[in-house]
Amino acid sequence: MRGIVLAGGLGTRLWPAATVLSKQLLPVYDKPMIYYPLSILMLAGIRDILVISSPDDLPLYRKLLEDGSAFGCDLSYCEQPRPEGLAQAFLLGEEFLDGDDAALALGDNIFYGSGIGGTVKHAAASVKPGAAICFAHRVRDPERYGVVEFDANGRAMSLEEKPEKPKSNYAIPGLYFYGRGVCDVAREVRPSARGELEITSLNRLYLDRDALMVTQLGRGVAWLDTGTPQSLLEAANFIHAVQTRQGQMVACLEEIAYLNGWIDRAQLMERADAIGNSAYGRYLSELAES
Ligand code: G1P
Repeated sequence: MRGIVLAGGLGTRLWPAATVLSKQLLPVYDKPMIYYPLSILMLAGIRDILVISSPDDLPLYRKLLEDGSAFGCDLSYCEQPRPEGLAQAFLLGEEFLDGDDAALALGDNIFYGSGIGGTVKHAAASVKPGAAICFAHRVRDPERYGVVEFDANGRAMSLEEKPEKPKSNYAIPGLYFYGRGVCDVAREVRPSARGELEITSLNRLYLDRDALMVTQLGRGVAWLDTGTPQSLLEAANFIHAVQTRQGQMVACLEEIAYLNGWIDRAQLMERADAIGNSAYGRYLSELAES
């Protein structure tokens, strides 16, 4: 399976903080936002990852993440000339995917909690050709998201993008797994009323074919929003609280690579030296020495 991180969009609700800098490069406490969705793909066991962003911002992602080898990944980059919807990721990423299964993570979605690693690993391993897996998480304000309605047996019945009157409190987070064939299905998506190739429209095509599984994330998983100054601050405070209390980092890419056996101790130490005297660098040094 290959992964795509989509780091597009204008981030207008974060202007002026995100006027000249891509929103997904803004820090969430101690690391750039994109580290968090990258870490989720890595926890799912995915190392071949395509980063998609605007022509202006893509060079900054390249500068930050390079070829990904420092954290055991093989990164590729692709420009999204205009933000025309999330499902466009599969039109832009078709060559990269080369017919493989695909996971899409939105660059501004943060997950944390017990079992999330196992959940995403299982999704990556179990998605069938022609089928899709996404998740549902209970929220107070479903009208801001893609919303799923379940029947009495917990099966998805309907999907709507930012409905005025949501049929449930279950939002669909920005993390999706597709079996082979997703690019062909993405080509069937027609622009929505707001002119975008919506990810919800893509997922609805799977639902209509009875090929969409929607897994509920339990209350033990936190799904954090980063769309507004307030939610970004709250996400940073959350990460700070967890890390300080536990003495363990959330979304430390080198740590995940090390624990996955993708980089060895020497590479970890080299990276710790390169990052230097920040808390992140010291964390890597301690990990390498432990
Ligand atoms: C997008 C999707 C929406 C999803 C959300 C998750 O919305 O369109 O279905 O629930 O991401 O973050 P956006 O945040 O791009 O408006």
